[in-house]
Amino acid sequence: MDPKRLIEDGNHYLFHTYNRYPIVLRKGRGMKVWDYEGREYTDFLSGIAVNVLGHCHPRVVIAIQKQAQRLIHVSNLYHIAPQIRLAKLLVNKSFADRVFFCNSGAEANEAAIKLARKYSLMQHGDHRHEIITALNSFHGRTITTLSATGQTQFRKGFEPLTPGFRHVEFNNIEDLKSAINSNTCAVMLEPIQGESGIRVATKEYLVEVRRLCTEHDILLILDEVQTGIGHTGKLFAYEHYGIIPDIITLGKGLGGGAPIGAMMAKEKMKNVFGTGSHGSTFGGNPLVCAAAIATIETILEDGILLSECERLGEYMRGRLNELKKEFPDIILNIRGKGLLIGMEINRECSQIVTECMKRGYLINCTAGNTIRFIPPLIVTQNDIDNLTDVLDDVLGRFV
Ligand SMILES: Cc1ncc(COP(=O)(O)O)c(C=O)c1O
Repeated sequence: MDPKRLIEDGNHYLFHTYNRYPIVLRKGRGMKVWDYEGREYTDFLSGIAVNVLGHCHPRVVIAIQKQAQRLIHVSNLYHIAPQIRLAKLLVNKSFADRVFFCNSGAEANEAAIKLARKYSLMQHGDHRHEIITALNSFHGRTITTLSATGQTQFRKGFEPLTPGFRHVEFNNIEDLKSAINSNTCAVMLEPIQGESGIRVATKEYLVEVRRLCTEHDILLILDEVQTGIGHTGKLFAYEHYGIIPDIITLGKGLGGGAPIGAMMAKEKMKNVFGTGSHGSTFGGNPLVCAAAIATIETILEDGILLSECERLGEYMRGRLNELKKEFPDIILNIRGKGLLIGMEINRECSQIVTECMKRGYLINCTAGNTIRFIPPLIVTQNDIDNLTDVLDDVLGRFV
């Protein structure tokens, strides 16, 4: 297989929706991936928060193999054993009582928005449909989740958008308070804004948001598509805040690489989605649910993975802060929780990402000037030290 030819074909046959790096990855194990030319990379991006257990974790591979031999897909017109087992597992490990499965983060958010609107209609009448989200948020690429997303650059050209969304400044409780009105049905927030540069909600903010939502009988939806399934050191990021949301959405890491999304909600909403009111052909099919069960069971059974995530996250932020002392004119800020880490720099960061890739490290640039690190939970201190050395070398060339 000639990788140059493959890239040419890709450029010819695919929509150019991504600015792809000029490598084709062929195989992965744990922290490592290899391209078609045999070059090895250490992956600190995890498919953007997807491969929580690294590449091709044996338990996930075996679960997929076994399930593929037994039953890959059946319609949701029948009961699906792995789907029911996964729902029970998620409910037992969270605040939620009911789960709806879909195929992506955007679809999970669509489901949450539909659920919130219909619940509000049933409880309060049809005027109350407005959803408040945050500026710089990211909730997906469908027309409605783009409408929820508080970043104009993603929305431009796709108008008209879905009405009924109002955007407020993130971490600014006064702004939220002044946006709440008699039409507000829900507040939808990411505990950490991932796509806009790893911006962490403060505890005071989320606690006060919860209080306001309760006071006004408004639903609190947390978009945990990027923060969920362990990357912050807890299975769900809301656990860091001592609050209970009404709805959360999951995607990315849930299937350990298999495409699955989920929307989970409190029992009071169980009758809102009745027969025929919402659905998805592939949502929660046997194959992806088997992968998700293996992923979550591995994270939880091991126990140590979550506590190590917090420890190693702190260690990594410490190492990056040492770099900040060394390069105070370049590095502006280190942010994050657990192994979801952003390093804001004083320039566009794609060149630094490319230089790291040339040295065998995969990282990512988000929001233009924030280097994003999302290693899998199996990362070691040694991997972190090696990456920091590489960054040291790369940044040194920019001084
Ligand atoms: C917080 C958040 N919500 C939703 C999405 C959309 O997920 P998907 O790309 O699976 O539709 C993303 C993707 O980056 C995300 O980070």
